[in-house]
Amino acid sequence: MAETDETDEISSAPGSILPAHIAVVMDGNGRWAQRRGLARAEGHAHGAIAARRIVEYCYQQNIPYLTLFAFSSENWNRPQQEVALLMELFTERLQAETAGMVERKISLRVVGSRSRFPQALLERIEAVELATAGGTHLSLQVAADYGGRWDIVEAARQLASKAAAGELEPSTITEQSFCDGLALSPAPDPDLLIRTGGESRVSNFLLWQLAYAELYFTELCWPDFDADEFQLALNWFAARSRRFGLIDDLESSAPAEPE
Ligand code: FPP
Repeated sequence: MAETDETDEISSAPGSILPAHIAVVMDGNGRWAQRRGLARAEGHAHGAIAARRIVEYCYQQNIPYLTLFAFSSENWNRPQQEVALLMELFTERLQAETAGMVERKISLRVVGSRSRFPQALLERIEAVELATAGGTHLSLQVAADYGGRWDIVEAARQLASKAAAGELEPSTITEQSFCDGLALSPAPDPDLLIRTGGESRVSNFLLWQLAYAELYFTELCWPDFDADEFQLALNWFAARSRRFGLIDDLESSAPAEPE
């Protein structure tokens, strides 16, 4: 790997609440480059460095699940040259990082359609998934050629096929059995979504799985996302009160004491 900031140490206050699963929309590579008079390719190259850094931060903090949105179903509509460049970057990065992930017990899965990837990338994905399958320290999902609606339709198709084959009674379908067919399964739903680049939307990412996630938006472009910003996001998360549709605590629901 080229440049990294592995020296950045991350340490949350003892006892602070950490997310078990962080999902990230890595937006703003192009703007980062344009603002510096660089080609968009440079922005993506620095985005890859930032992606490596956040893996490192999660690793240091013992955060067990990380999902990075690397390429959406809609990104195929970008200029062909940029798409080709991204495919090459993914292939090269996966190749370069495999040994390190095996050594550090990081498992990597690519989640998404895969139907339009170049052969070299497909082969690299299969190789890295196989090599890292035993990783237990951090489960890293890279969403590529991924869309939340695609994911939901795929899960529905799986259940429909089983029902059509007489293997499944539709009335027995539950949220959990539906969820089992989604691309991130068996990872738990993300607790925290981080989106860089200034936009406050989820852009067809993990539509089902983000139902109760805390959403953290920052103006920073992805290549600038560093240890300090990661810590800010963790601190912000730790201060959230997560109610999952319930009420804050039992005390607030207790009947008032008689005067
Ligand atoms: C969004 O920025 C970023 C992408 C579409 C590509 C993401 C890829 C990386 C971060 C590099 C490689 C990652 C891995 C996991 C190896 P944008 O181009 O939409 O930026 P803009 O909105 O400023 O144009």
